[in-house]
Parts: sequence; C-alpha cells; structure tokens
Amino acid sequence: MHTYAYTHSHTSPQTCTHTHTHNAPQGLGHSQLAAEAAAYVAVLGFAPSRVALHLQRAWPVVSEEGQGIGRHHHPNAHLSAVLYLTGDGSGEEGVLRVHAPHQSNELVPGLVAGHGGPIASDHPFNSESWDLAPEVGLLVLFPSRLDHSVLANGDPESLRCSISFDFVITAPEQGNPPEYLAPHPSQWTPCSDLSS
Ligand SMILES: [Fe+2]
Repeated sequence: MHTYAYTHSHTSPQTCTHTHTHNAPQGLGHSQLAAEAAAYVAVLGFAPSRVALHLQRAWPVVSEEGQGIGRHHHPNAHLSAVLYLTGDGSGEEGVLRVHAPHQSNELVPGLVAGHGGPIASDHPFNSESWDLAPEVGLLVLFPSRLDHSVLANGDPESLRCSISFDFVITAPEQGNPPEYLAPHPSQWTPCSDLSS
C-alpha cells in the first residue's frame, strides 16, 4: 500500500488556482491517477455524483539540455496534470512555471506594483508566477485554463521526462444534463452519422 504525501499547496495566494502536488509512487496506475483527479475536483467542491470526469489524452514530454516549453494553456480540457519521471527537486532540469492570471492584492484596478505605487513589488501576493521543481514521482494537478511554461533544461547530463494528462468534466451518463455542462460523450452523435 502506498502512502501519499498529500501536500495541498496553493501555487501562491494570487494565482490561487488550486494546484495540488502529490508525491506519487513511480508507476502510477490509471486507477490511481483517476482517483487523484477525482479527489482534486472533490476538494474544489464538486459533488462526485453530479459530474463525470474523463481522461481525454496523455502524452510524454522529453526535454534535452536547452529545451523548454513556451507559455500556454490547454483550451480543450478542464483539468490537467503532469507526472514527473525525472528530477531531483533542484529545478536544474527546468521548472514548471505557473503564471498568475491576475494579481489578487491589486484591490484598486490598475494599481500595479512598482512605479512608485503603494503595493510592494516583492510581496508574495503580487508575484507574476510561481515555480515548481520537478521531482521523481511528483504529480501536479491544475486547471487547464491556467497559463504555464517550462524553463529550459539546464542539466547537460539529464533528460527531463514527464507525462502530461488532460481531463474533461461532463454531465453524468444518466439523467438529463444541466445546461452548464456538456452531455456525457455517450450521448454525443458524430456528424458523420447524421449525413447518411
Ligand atoms: Fe501544458
């Protein structure tokens, strides 16, 4: 039986996007991944019986020295995850950088830090991004809409290896789907079926 070191860590107050990190065992199985994703949405307040969570796709990411990934998000998914297969926690292989969608301490719109303003530019609520160093077995879950990037691998001796996952939330298979959720995929009809 594996014990998870469940560190419920918000990325930082201003990103406040509920990025969770788990120290997952290597060889994370599909069922374990599904359980972690379900636990994540439950922590956010979703009633498990009122949504269906689907693993939409998964793909490996391998970065050699000097390779990174530019800022992006995953517009076709709701929940994303990454499982690190390499990394010693130093960040030398390239950190995951999560970009704050807004600065939550900017109570007065437009009152940005710096430029002589009253908000301390180094205040943690005011940082524009948060970095996470890869570590073997670390599983990170975050909203797909959240911009993120990967800094270049600075370790000439190591590949940076991870597996990314995208999840989608729909209505449950049974019952009438509410207007605010996509129906369950089992209720979808390919347009090709309609043209015949
Ligand atoms: Fe990504």
